[in-house]
Amino acid sequence: AGRARGTEEPLCFHLDSALVGAVIGRGGTKIKELEDSSGSRIKVTRGTYEAEVKIFGSLDVQNKAKMLIDNAVTSSGQNNRGKILDMKPENNPKKSVINWDSLRENRAKYEAMKWADLPPIEKNFYKESSRTASMSQEEVKLWRKENNNITCDDLKEGEKRRIPNPVCKFEDVFEHYPDIMTNIRKVGFQKPTPIQSQAWPIILQGIDLIGIAQTGTGKTLAYLMPGFIHLTSQPICKDQREGPGMLVLAPTRELALQVEAECSKYAYKGIKSICIYGGGDRRGQIDVVTKGVDIVIATPGRLNDLQMNNFINLKSITYLANEADRMLDMGFEPQIMKILIDVRPDRQTIMTSATWPDGVRRLAKSYLKNPMIVYVGTLDLAAVNTVEQRVVVIAEEEKRAFMHCFIESMKPKDKVIIFVGKKLTADDLASDFGIQGIPVQSLHGNREQCDREQALDDFKKGKVKILVATDLASRGLDVHDITHVFNFDFPRNIEEYVHRVGRTGRAGRTGEAVTLVTKNDWKFASELIEILERTNQV
Ligand SMILES: Nc1ncnc2c1ncn2[C@@H]1O[C@H](COP(=O)(O)OP(=O)(O)OP(=O)(O)O)[C@@H](O)[C@H]1O
Ligand SMILES: [Mg+2]
Repeated sequence: AGRARGTEEPLCFHLDSALVGAVIGRGGTKIKELEDSSGSRIKVTRGTYEAEVKIFGSLDVQNKAKMLIDNAVTSSGQNNRGKILDMKPENNPKKSVINWDSLRENRAKYEAMKWADLPPIEKNFYKESSRTASMSQEEVKLWRKENNNITCDDLKEGEKRRIPNPVCKFEDVFEHYPDIMTNIRKVGFQKPTPIQSQAWPIILQGIDLIGIAQTGTGKTLAYLMPGFIHLTSQPICKDQREGPGMLVLAPTRELALQVEAECSKYAYKGIKSICIYGGGDRRGQIDVVTKGVDIVIATPGRLNDLQMNNFINLKSITYLANEADRMLDMGFEPQIMKILIDVRPDRQTIMTSATWPDGVRRLAKSYLKNPMIVYVGTLDLAAVNTVEQRVVVIAEEEKRAFMHCFIESMKPKDKVIIFVGKKLTADDLASDFGIQGIPVQSLHGNREQCDREQALDDFKKGKVKILVATDLASRGLDVHDITHVFNFDFPRNIEEYVHRVGRTGRAGRTGEAVTLVTKNDWKFASELIEILERTNQV
């Protein structure tokens, strides 16, 4: 006597959030179709990272629906892009009809098959110069100490590897790469920054790296230069590669564009790069990508889009750099997971940031394989020491008047970025300035992309000396002649404070930060004081 249909326990499993779209379909059309053809009822509950799928109906019907869902997910991603997580029958021993062990085994097999026919990767290109090799332990220690306290650690479990000596001169690391040396001479850099001196020998040995160093201290070239060498030294030539060889992920469009500009500036041997970012010309980006590029610098959303629509092949990527900690916070995690499903697991991965909060440290581990970590200064949150930081305790209603006084006191050569908490405030302050005949620009997420780019360009070129911005502009942007950061509103967390302040005082220059603090910001006081103490400002 069979049970009545629908009285069975539901079949329950989890699905990567990135994949639920394939099950639900536009306006729920797909899920309806799946229900109709299997005779089941399917319920999907979305979560942040995973969705829970429940299939109701008789055992038969459940199994049929499960099969159809698997197919839908697999074909949506082509080549088993779909990853079904944690398949567990819930409280139902009868579910042994499905052989979970064999399913799991198959999954591992598919995963292996997916990466089977890839060309070999070469990762170690490092030839230690005799000068570097001959440094004594004392010299190494002294160099690290004098270069703002470089600290290194091997995060590999078990036996630790030797941390390579730092390189003191560009020649020590790039003497076999004349193109790089020429570019460095052209821009006139004197010597590697601390992070570069220690990161280059590690990355060039093919080791994954987490690089933490203060704002404005050359982290971009720390990963770009070895990336160029990695790219141009692969055993297969670039025509045989079926997509880009290097990928850089950045949290904002402006930062992605900036990294791309840096990339084009230093690239050689016809290395081609492109920026793939939301708001930019999608058709144009697709055209360039399909014609073949070497380096893609991308914001996650647009890259997901091109990836899902099969305009870009990510399997050819062997070098991945991540403008880190912001990328790993809640917003980007699922998008990055989706991207990494298609990037080969034996790639080399580099992560860099000026801040390294706890939550992110745990997450980062899943992206890197046996990494080393290099940090310059302290792993504790610290602002760059070339910025003089001033804190002004003030009442909310006095903030505007204070800001206008500050602006009036600016010297002709000064350039200031005013950070606010809300897009509305940014518009509001900007129009205030406008009414007074003071030329300003504003940068925030509600502006059209072309206006955003124009705003930043006007500010860079000095057409305006004041930029009013939200935290969209707090990370990574490198406008060398910003003299002042003015925090009109206190940032929403203390990491953001460090990044904002770091928009000035870059590459050894000095800068000044003024931060308005009201009663409502007291909760940040102790963290702020710690930061001021670390840079000897109290
Ligand atoms: N070895 C060097 N010597 C002098 N200047 C350098 C050197 N390397 C890089 N720079 C310059 O320093 C500036 C800041 O570099 P970059 O933008 O990479 O900083 P960052 O560490 O990424 O900062 P942030 O944390 O704000 O992103 C750039 O204009 C870059 O050209
Ligand atoms: Mg940077």
